[in-house]
Amino acid sequence: MTYRVGIVGAGFLTRHSLIPALRDMPGGRLAAVLDPDPQALAMAAPDCPDAFLTTDKDAFFDVVMDAVHVATPNHLHERFTIRALERGLAVVVDKPLAHTVASGRNIVTAGAGAAAPAIVGYMSKHNVYNREARRLVAAGAIGTPQAMVAARLGWRKDDWRSRPAESGLGCLADLGIYPVLTAIDIFGADPVRCQAAAWPVGDPTRTDLYAQATLWFDDRRYLHFETAATFHEQPASAEVASYTVVGDAGIIQVTGAWQMDGTGALQMCDTSGWRPAAALTPVDPYRSQYELLARCAAGEPVPGEVSLERGLRDLEILYVIADTAAARAGAGAVQVSGGAPLAEVR
Ligand SMILES: NC(=O)c1ccc[n+]([C@@H]2O[C@H](COP(=O)([O-])OP(=O)(O)OC[C@H]3O[C@@H](n4cnc5c(N)ncnc54)[C@H](O)[C@@H]3O)[C@@H](O)[C@H]2O)c1
Repeated sequence: MTYRVGIVGAGFLTRHSLIPALRDMPGGRLAAVLDPDPQALAMAAPDCPDAFLTTDKDAFFDVVMDAVHVATPNHLHERFTIRALERGLAVVVDKPLAHTVASGRNIVTAGAGAAAPAIVGYMSKHNVYNREARRLVAAGAIGTPQAMVAARLGWRKDDWRSRPAESGLGCLADLGIYPVLTAIDIFGADPVRCQAAAWPVGDPTRTDLYAQATLWFDDRRYLHFETAATFHEQPASAEVASYTVVGDAGIIQVTGAWQMDGTGALQMCDTSGWRPAAALTPVDPYRSQYELLARCAAGEPVPGEVSLERGLRDLEILYVIADTAAARAGAGAVQVSGGAPLAEVR
């Protein structure tokens, strides 16, 4: 079977990860790429000689394809996701779901009425080390998980990610989203209480470059994480992705599994001491996304963990963190979806 995907946005994600993923996917085919920037298309062209590259939206949507991957700046996710769904095309909308909660709600509404499936581009959910951590916790390998401590540090150009109108949140939505997604999987619940600090925060022209937060999942279990981004630099040391989950009968440590190459490492400590996890074979998380989308288009239900509704809930949680930091009011309840505590609306 051939699965024809069109990509909107020929930027870093597309060139670094999406084009190679489709090239390596049996039956996968990059049908078209849309970007208003001819230079971005020219940089992508050598790696996709058979694809139709265009700066023209209408010409892009005239191409026969099965699915669209929306890989644009966040404020354009809504526009292109809705246009693709209206044409009956399946969609991967990359994370975060949107730049604002209101825009995310419009995407969810469009998805609910669409004939084709849509998933959020949560590559971390496809990483084998994150999946193994989740499996070990669910199997009781460290007893009851009590605490998770995490860091996700990176870098960015001073571009749309720095501007609230295009990005929404800064490093919180770009990098800090990963500890939040993983903690929700590990604890099997949404957070109910939050403490946070971020900088800059509530600034109309600059998004956050640093944030730290504690999310409580009940009166005892919590995630504490830090996230930050430097400007314009990409030294290896600027990419930090690690977390530790402490249970009442053991510890799991994962490094690297929120980075984009699908690799990572997992170590576990229990009554017999520290040891590496069983050997795992990394998968390309982006290829895994396309394979999942193709199965969903063929009738398999969209997993809740990558659904548009989940993407909206995660975005709401990130905004609760930012709002808590902006209020400088200490800790507060996580209230989303019309003001009801998450624990009540779940
Ligand atoms: N899942 C992941 O691992 C991952 C990694 C990086 C980025 N992302 C997400 O992917 C998206 C893109 O990020 P990026 O790092 O590639 O950004 P980028 O700035 O490198 O690329 C964005 C591209 O979108 C293009 N664009 C702007 N307006 C457009 C329009 N109207 N129509 C079509 N294209 C348009 C730009 O010209 C640019 O080439 C963001 O939402 C980001 O959060 C996800």
